[in-house]
Amino acid sequence: MAQRIPEETIEEIRTSADIVEVVNEYVQLTKQGRNYTGLCPFHGENTPSFSVSSDRQLYHCFGCGAGGNVINFIMESEGISFIEAIQLLAEKTGVSLPETIAAAKEGNDSGHQAMLDGHELAARFYHHILMNTNQGQEAYDYLLSRGVSEDMMKHFQIGYAPAQHQALTALLEKREYKLAEMKEAGLVMQSESSGEYFDRFIGRIIFPIQNGKGKVIAFGGRTLTNDGPKYLNSSESAIFKKNETLYGLAAARPFIRKHNLAVLFEGYMDVIAASSAGINTGIATLGTSLTEQQARTIRRNSEEVTVCYDGDEAGITAAIKAATLLEAEGCKVRVALLEDGEDPDDFIQKAGPERFKQEIIEAAVPVMTFKMNVLRRNKNLKNEGERLAYIEEVLGELTNIQGAVEREHYMRQLAEEFSLSLEALKHEQSRLYRKKKRQQNENVAYESAEKRSFSFKETKLRSAFENAERYLLAHMMNSYSITKTVEKEVGAEFNVEEYAALAVYLYGYYGRGLEPDPAHFIHSINDEELTRLATELAMIEIPDHITDDELMDYMKKIKNYPKWVEIEQKEKEMREAERKNDVTTALYIANEVISLRKELTY
Ligand code: GTP
Ligand code: MN
Repeated sequence: MAQRIPEETIEEIRTSADIVEVVNEYVQLTKQGRNYTGLCPFHGENTPSFSVSSDRQLYHCFGCGAGGNVINFIMESEGISFIEAIQLLAEKTGVSLPETIAAAKEGNDSGHQAMLDGHELAARFYHHILMNTNQGQEAYDYLLSRGVSEDMMKHFQIGYAPAQHQALTALLEKREYKLAEMKEAGLVMQSESSGEYFDRFIGRIIFPIQNGKGKVIAFGGRTLTNDGPKYLNSSESAIFKKNETLYGLAAARPFIRKHNLAVLFEGYMDVIAASSAGINTGIATLGTSLTEQQARTIRRNSEEVTVCYDGDEAGITAAIKAATLLEAEGCKVRVALLEDGEDPDDFIQKAGPERFKQEIIEAAVPVMTFKMNVLRRNKNLKNEGERLAYIEEVLGELTNIQGAVEREHYMRQLAEEFSLSLEALKHEQSRLYRKKKRQQNENVAYESAEKRSFSFKETKLRSAFENAERYLLAHMMNSYSITKTVEKEVGAEFNVEEYAALAVYLYGYYGRGLEPDPAHFIHSINDEELTRLATELAMIEIPDHITDDELMDYMKKIKNYPKWVEIEQKEKEMREAERKNDVTTALYIANEVISLRKELTY
């Protein structure tokens, strides 16, 4: 399906979409000087090395090298094709696309659109059944009895799948959806014997699960009758990856961003109950423990996270695991503790929204305090042996805390509570730390070679000529006249092959009569590696103006470099000849060196 979007339209879309605004929907950005920085969405990191320039309309990650303009960003972060990215941005910016291309969405080769449309239709259908029909009455009453108001049912688009085998199937068929495709989407199932299609969800309360953009991609279905499993989720599909999805995120995101705080729950009902209690920053995993990807998604939206899990043994273990993952992604985590056998939803129903906010959410404690509370449960601290075990366990936990101040804070607590000397505790804690380090060092040998070579690349120092080439290219992207001069003086004779390629691309770009515009230039490069490199160079902070002397200096460094290499080679040969007492050759080479030196431009 070769679609051609006119170049002017692409440019119009690209220039109407502000990269800072677009990226901000995916990454929490903070203004820093002229640029915006945040955590790179393309690799895991705790300290921000992802940078977005409003002036240049480019993004670049100094950690993993990802970079490009707004179109590249959408392609990379959504994992979609160029055309799809253009369609998405066209929608965002309101720039209209030619009919054929806008319509191409429907028959999209990936087929995802039909899956999404099928889910949207199903969600509306189930919601309608719940809200307006006799079939939905029992589910409606059940939800009300559990404190879910009509407003909440609407807000979360809760539904009911009627107790019939082909309610949704018939609707999809009537609307001419391909049932085989709807099976792939996880909306219907197929009988092995008869080949007939039937509904996946039958007689269940339906919780639509949305992706980050608010599109329904799956359902969670709760039994009303206690038949079968309590919850039945959609199967994974091209549009639904359970481990990457967070229930409630799309709706909660603006609030999470605003408060820089997310509250992580275990269940759908907890998110809904919390929302009716006025906590609109709630999200939940889908019945599995938090994954690294989900933690990363959370970190991209918020620095602070409160984990609010069930108060049973499983909940506590899961909360600690989730907190550890979130901290690894750079979140500041607190844990809200419920009593054994209680979940947030139960507590809200029992004690009301105010007490939930005050006694649970606002009373959430730092992870270390939570761990200490857990460690001392079931221990009789009056007993010396158990007390010592507790102290040892706490000190062991402290080896995971990076900050010395924070470590000391907890050791002071211990010292006060058990009348111990702080010095002794510190001594013991650092012994435990060294022991742990030793054990880790033994494992270091297994660390991947890849990882090490990556950090080597990062710290590599660039030589003078290399820097000259980089700065020159950065200036060339912003100036036609500089490019003209460089084209005349240096041409394609950049010493780093990739830089030479970029220079040639630039000559071609200006040759087509285009104006200086790094983001537009980068768009014209047809090579992923070069796109990244060009972005990296375009993000270099350069002064607006460059004197002729500076320009000459850069060019000299570039032109002289190969000659220096040759001179050095000749001098080596000369010394070799001298060593062998081959005076004739040595003299001959010395002459060559002299003339080479003359060729150096100063
Ligand atoms: P209620 O019992 O209605 O209050 O729901 P809950 O959200 O409190 O459920 P629970 O604490 O038992 O489980 C937490 C989450 O785990 C749920 O929201 C589901 O996502 C998931 N879950 C629970 N039971 C099942 C099950 O039988 N199958 C699957 N796939 N997921 C489940
Ligand atoms: Mn519950």
